[in-house]
Amino acid sequence: MCGIVGYIGPRSAQDVVISGLRRLEYRGYDSAGIAVGHDGVLEARKKSGKISCLDTHLADDPLPASHQGIGHTRWATHGGPSDTNAHPHLSQSGRVALVHNGIIENFATLRSELEAEGVRFVSETDTEAAAQLLGYLVDAGAPLAEAMRSVAARLDGAFTLVAIDAHDPDRVVAARRNSPLVVGVGQGENFLGSDVAAFLEFTRDAIELGQDQVVEITRESVEITNLDGTPAGDVTPYHVDWDIAAAEKGGFDWFMRKEIHEQPRAVADTLLGRYAASGELVLDEVRISPEELRRIDKIVIVACGTAFYAGMVAKYAIEHWTRVPCEVEIASEFRYRDPIIDPMTLVVTISQSGETADTLMAIRHAREQHAKVIAICNTNGATIPRESDAVIYTHAGPERGVASTKGFLTQVVACYLLGLYLAQVRGMKYRDEIAAVMDELSSMPEKIQRVLDDSQQVLDLAGELKDEHSFLFLGRHVGYPVSLEGALKLKEIAYKHAEGFPAGELKHGPIALVEQGLPVFVVVPPRGRDQLHDKVISNIQEVRARGARTIVIVEDGDDEVLPYGDVVIRHPRVSTLLQPLVATVPLQLFACELAARLGHDVDQPRNLAKSVTVE
Ligand code: AGP
Repeated sequence: MCGIVGYIGPRSAQDVVISGLRRLEYRGYDSAGIAVGHDGVLEARKKSGKISCLDTHLADDPLPASHQGIGHTRWATHGGPSDTNAHPHLSQSGRVALVHNGIIENFATLRSELEAEGVRFVSETDTEAAAQLLGYLVDAGAPLAEAMRSVAARLDGAFTLVAIDAHDPDRVVAARRNSPLVVGVGQGENFLGSDVAAFLEFTRDAIELGQDQVVEITRESVEITNLDGTPAGDVTPYHVDWDIAAAEKGGFDWFMRKEIHEQPRAVADTLLGRYAASGELVLDEVRISPEELRRIDKIVIVACGTAFYAGMVAKYAIEHWTRVPCEVEIASEFRYRDPIIDPMTLVVTISQSGETADTLMAIRHAREQHAKVIAICNTNGATIPRESDAVIYTHAGPERGVASTKGFLTQVVACYLLGLYLAQVRGMKYRDEIAAVMDELSSMPEKIQRVLDDSQQVLDLAGELKDEHSFLFLGRHVGYPVSLEGALKLKEIAYKHAEGFPAGELKHGPIALVEQGLPVFVVVPPRGRDQLHDKVISNIQEVRARGARTIVIVEDGDDEVLPYGDVVIRHPRVSTLLQPLVATVPLQLFACELAARLGHDVDQPRNLAKSVTVE
C-alpha cells in the first residue's frame, strides 16, 4: 500500500505533490520521491526514509519550476527500502517517469523480455518493469495514454500506475486494477491520488477510476478510457464531504476500523504472486534450499502477542500438512528455557513491525544454535527480516492501529503459504491437494468481505455489552488461538478483563468463573470436524447451564447450535483450518466498537506501543 499523487495545472507541481504525499504518508513511509517535467526533460528526486528526508534532499538539490508532476511515498513489497528502489522509476531513455502502488506478479517475465531488448534495469523492484516497458513503447512512438493501455493489458496482479512523458508537458496519465486511484477535478487544474486525502485541500470533486481503466488529465480535461481505447462512458464527479483527518482514515473513525475493513484486500495482496500457473507455490523470498528444508526435523515458531496467536493457528496447519513437529513459543520465554535447537531446526518468527526486541533476541539465540530462520513480517527491510535467513512478507500495508488486525490475518495466510510450501518441497502434498487449499484461500477475501458486510449485529452487541466487566472466549483446535486473540483485542483497547480458554479446559477450573449473565464467546468448529463440533456444543451447554450469556461464532447453516446460543454470529462456510480468517473478524469488530463506544482512543490505547522495541 503506497501513496501516489499526480498534478497538472498552474500551481507549483512540487508544492502540490509534496503536500499530497504528506497527507498520504500513513500509506507507506520507507521512501519517497517526486518527478517533474521541465523544458522537455524529466527531473526526479527520491530518497529512502520519510518525506522529511526527501524535503532535505530537495532543499540541497532543488527541482526546476514545473506544473506537471508525480510523487510517491512507498511501503516496500519487492525490493527493500533504498534510494534506488524508491519511486518514481524512470525509463532507460529518461523520457518517462512512473510511480506504482500494488504488486506486479509477472514482473520477472517482463524484465527478462526487456533485458533481451537491451534495456538495463537499475532497481530490485517489480515497478521498474512497468516503467521500462512504458518507456520502451513511448520511445517507439506511442502516445503516453496508448502506451499505458498496452502496459496495463500486459500486467498481472494489482496496480495503480501514474506516469508523465517529458515530451508531453501538459498531461499526466494513469491506469488501475485492484488498487485505488481517484481523480481530483479542479478548475483549470486536475489531480490524481491514491485517495482523496491527496488533493482535498485543493478540490472536493472526485472521480473514482474504474477497474482496468486509463485516465488522461490535462489542465482542462479528464478523459477516461477502457484498455481497448473505447471511452469509459459517462463519469460524473462526486463531492467529498470528509475533512482531511477523516479522509486519511478513509472515512472511518479509527485507523483500526479502517484496517479491519482493509483485510479482504490485504489477504488478497498477501496471496498475490505466490501461486504459479504451473500449480507450484512460489515463495521467492525463501532463500533456504529445498534440500535444507527437506532435512528439517522440527519447526519452532517464535513470536509475541497477536503474532504468537497467529503462530498457534499455524501449528495446526503446518503439522497437519507436513507431519513435522511444530512448537510455538512466546519469544520472551524462548531463549531462557534453554531450548533444544540445532541445524535441523527451522525457526519461524512472526512480527508485523519486524522490530520487536523479544522476537529479535529469540532469533539471534536460534542462529547461535545454527538453526535456519524464516521471518514472516509486514515491514520490508526491518531488523528481524534482515537478521533472518529468509522472509515471507505479508503485504498488508502499514498498520497504524496499535491493536493488530490485518497484521494477524495476513500473518495466518503467510503461515499457511509456508506450510503448503514445506509440504510441497517435502513431497507431503500433491499439487492437486495444494491447489485445493490455494483455491479456497483465494476465495477468502470475498468471504471476509461478507463477514464485514453483515457486521451490524456485532456492533449492536458491543453497545449492549459495553458496561460488562468480564468476558470469556472459548474455542477448540484453531478456534482456541482465535479465542485468545479475541480476548487480547478486548483487553488492549477496551481495557476489559477477558480470557481465552481451550473449551475443553473450562471444566478443569475456569468454569468456576461462570455466573449469571457472564458473556461467553464460543468459536464453534465447522461441522466437518464432527467430534470437535459436538464437544464444543457440549461446552456451550455447560456454561449456559450456569447462567452464561453465550455468543456463538458459527458457520452458515449450522443450526445445531441454535438452542444453546443466546447470540448467533454467522460466518461463511470454510474448512476447519481456514476458519480463523473469518471467525476472528467479528471479534475484532466487537472490540473496536466497544472501545469506541466507551470513548477510548482506539488507535493509541493506554500503556501500549505499536512496536515493543525493549525486552
Ligand atoms: C497486538 O494487537 C498487539 N499490538 C501486540 O500483541 C503485538 O502483536 C505484539 O507486540 C507483536 O508485535 P509484532 O507483530 O510487531 O512483533
